Amino acid sequence: MKIIAGNWKMNGSLAMLRDMYAAIADVKTNNIVVLCPPFTLLNVRHMDGVECPKHLIIGAQDISEHDGGTFTGDISAKMVAESGAKYVIVGHSERRANHGETSELVAKKAVKAIENKLMPIICVGENAAQRESGSAFDVVGEMVRKSIPNIDSEIIVAYEPVWAISAGKIETGKNDRTATTRDIAEMHVFIADILKEIGRAGTKILYGGSVKGSNAAEIMAIPNVDGALVGGASLKASDFVATVLAADIN
Ligand code: PGA
Repeated sequence: MKIIAGNWKMNGSLAMLRDMYAAIADVKTNNIVVLCPPFTLLNVRHMDGVECPKHLIIGAQDISEHDGGTFTGDISAKMVAESGAKYVIVGHSERRANHGETSELVAKKAVKAIENKLMPIICVGENAAQRESGSAFDVVGEMVRKSIPNIDSEIIVAYEPVWAISAGKIETGKNDRTATTRDIAEMHVFIADILKEIGRAGTKILYGGSVKGSNAAEIMAIPNVDGALVGGASLKASDFVATVLAADIN
């Protein structure tokens, strides 16, 4: 059983959500399927006779590190939980890069998620320059250690090398760049070892970076890969369904 989480980023509409609900309703899978649409769609559970299927878990893409108050534009974990969402992505590389989020901040957000019974998907990953300079393992190791809060509660980690994320490819200008099976395997075992060392053996580690129907089975077969965080291929219902089914390898 794998966890396949769609991350819509700043994309999505009522029509897209309706299509996704209708498509996922027909999918039989052993995988846990999560969809993280923008905040405005979080509590939309039925439209025109189509309902959010029971086996589709809704998640948010971010939360504030604060409980509430004078923080214009921010959304608290409590608000997200009240919407019915069960998961939340924290520390996505686009938040780290575009909003200056540090691992210390990400850990605070993860604490708020846990306090509000949301499952945090804590993202880590090196960028192209860090990979090229040979510091990928140091960077990711530090992100893992600093972004995971010291609270005895289940979490999920997602390894997303920025250079392999479809949008991140713009950064390198090399559109053909994908992580190899070896790149993924090496980093996932490295992360699994750190998790063991900090008393979190068995924590699920997702992989993210251009995962789609055509490569999901191969990636899910890599040791220590427990699922995927899917961006581009989660936008169209048929692509996401293809990814969820291909990832169902057990
Ligand atoms: P991608 O995005 O699947 O489009 O590469 C993954 C992510 O950023 O979560």
